[in-house]
Amino acid sequence: MCGIVAYIGTKPAKPILLEGLKRLEYRGYDSAGVAVLDGDLSVARAVGRVSVLEDKLQQAGGFGGTLGIAHTRWATHGSVTEQNAHPHRDDRSGIALVHNGTIENYASLRKYLEGKGHTFHSETDTEVLAMLIGELFDPERGIDLEKAVQAALKEISGAYAIAVICEQEPDTLVVARKGSPLIVGVGNGEYIVGSDAAAIIAHTAQAITLDDYNVVKVTRDGFRTSNLDNVSLDAKIQQLEIDLEEIELGTYSHYMQKEIFEQPASIRNTLRGRLDLSEGRVVLGGVSNFAKELIKSRRIILAAQGTALHAGMIGEYMIEELAKIPAECEFASEFRYRNPIIEEGTVVVAVSQSGETIDTLYALQEAKDRGALTLGVVNVVGSTIARETDAGVYLRVGPEIGVASTKAFTGQVAVLAMLSLFLARRRFMSPDASTRLLKELNLIPEKIEQILTQDATIKAITQKYINRENWLFLGRGVNYPTAMEGALKLKEISYIHAEGMPAAEMKHGPIALITDGMPVVVIANRGAQYEKVLSNIEEVRSRGGHVIAIANEGDDRIGSIAEDVIYVPETAEPLSPMLTVIPLQMMAYHAAVLRGHDVDKPRNLAKSVTVE
Ligand code: M6R
Repeated sequence: MCGIVAYIGTKPAKPILLEGLKRLEYRGYDSAGVAVLDGDLSVARAVGRVSVLEDKLQQAGGFGGTLGIAHTRWATHGSVTEQNAHPHRDDRSGIALVHNGTIENYASLRKYLEGKGHTFHSETDTEVLAMLIGELFDPERGIDLEKAVQAALKEISGAYAIAVICEQEPDTLVVARKGSPLIVGVGNGEYIVGSDAAAIIAHTAQAITLDDYNVVKVTRDGFRTSNLDNVSLDAKIQQLEIDLEEIELGTYSHYMQKEIFEQPASIRNTLRGRLDLSEGRVVLGGVSNFAKELIKSRRIILAAQGTALHAGMIGEYMIEELAKIPAECEFASEFRYRNPIIEEGTVVVAVSQSGETIDTLYALQEAKDRGALTLGVVNVVGSTIARETDAGVYLRVGPEIGVASTKAFTGQVAVLAMLSLFLARRRFMSPDASTRLLKELNLIPEKIEQILTQDATIKAITQKYINRENWLFLGRGVNYPTAMEGALKLKEISYIHAEGMPAAEMKHGPIALITDGMPVVVIANRGAQYEKVLSNIEEVRSRGGHVIAIANEGDDRIGSIAEDVIYVPETAEPLSPMLTVIPLQMMAYHAAVLRGHDVDKPRNLAKSVTVE
């Protein structure tokens, strides 16, 4: 969602801020802005891409200071206009502020501030916070910028990450967070603040990660961390676990394409050092302290959203099938508000690439409050969900920049497979049975490599159906969530309407949609329900639908009943989604490119969704 960059140091701030904003573009946004302090504040804002803002700044000239803040906005309060874009200013004290998150009590605060004579120029909650800080700022009474920010934040409810500067304090940048991520990169005589590591890694790999209610006052000489009561806190400088190379596009056309093709390597990383093939055991350092509680758990609830939800649904199948523990996966957003029953022995697993998805975070907090043991299956190291769970397993797939999640999905499924086998082997699964599955898991990366060689064929198949506006995706068992994931991938980047569902469900209504030539993607790998899937294919065919089957190599029946077949290598059924999903990701990618869409910046979407 929104992105924050801020700089204080000795170099010109403007190019550093713009470069940081470009690196945060992947988060999703609809307008951008920058404020630089050079005696006076200069502010520029623009609707659309960062490049539009850059052109505007070039024409304007100036913006020569060494302290500044910048923002990419994903609209929540107020439409997408220049007036609503950040930075926002107060009307008295020369304050400028950028903000991620939402201020829930902004309407009453606005009324209060209007009563005090302040005039607003936008529809946003952020401008209210800028005005409030300005209202409280009173250097003559010892209320400097840091104290004014602390006092203002005590008055607001909601989530925020903010960066604030003030004309009257030309050597001060104040940043704070609650609920929305923010890190302060510590360079050589300079500090670069970012919503995530991508904005700062080109400058420094040393950073402080802010906790909720932390306020950091940064000057050119150093920084001080405090809480909202102005009590000083210790802040640890940590090494960021990300390389600049990992976030560069290299020879690929899009990040999504790069990340699809990275999957053999990313899954090797996920598995590295975690499989003990001789003993049939999985070694998961992040959860080993809780092994006893996990083995005895009576119920496992997986909570997630979007692609992570689909991975969690696969996890549900794997945990029940392999570890024989009752499991259920649900939308974190629904879990959070349905008064969930958490009995003794309930474990809640939050699955999230970013570790910042607010719905998943709130579900996790609710589960904790109700006494559940919580685990995180997270990619971003040190993210909020990773820090708030009792234990967890990192995906280790590297930074995922493409808005359409791909390598995180296969990483999540791989981790959930390992977690299932970690439990299964410690409960009752024989070493032989476990070793067999672990060997299959270990072969997944090279099997994905084989699928990736079919890129041209998959593109040609996609091309045949590129003008169709409605697609169905069907699967059974552990591949029903894969069908859902295929549909999500297609719709989010190509804007083609797609539905994913259990193949059997089609007959209960959606079959009415099938008309001549409608593309229906059916996951038809050899598994327990293979024969039933073939019957479903016949049902689609008899209504004129065109079936694109995802089948196993060597299947010579499928070719005669499906229009098109994409073959994937065979594996143990619970692990098969890591293979069957690959052609679906590739089809979605090609469909979006063939339709001329910007694959990495899909309409209306944000990479991590940090508002409810
Ligand atoms: O960061 P998370 O895994 O928690 O994100 C969850 C969803 O927002 C995310 O998977 C989303 O659905 C992706 N755009 C799917 O490609």
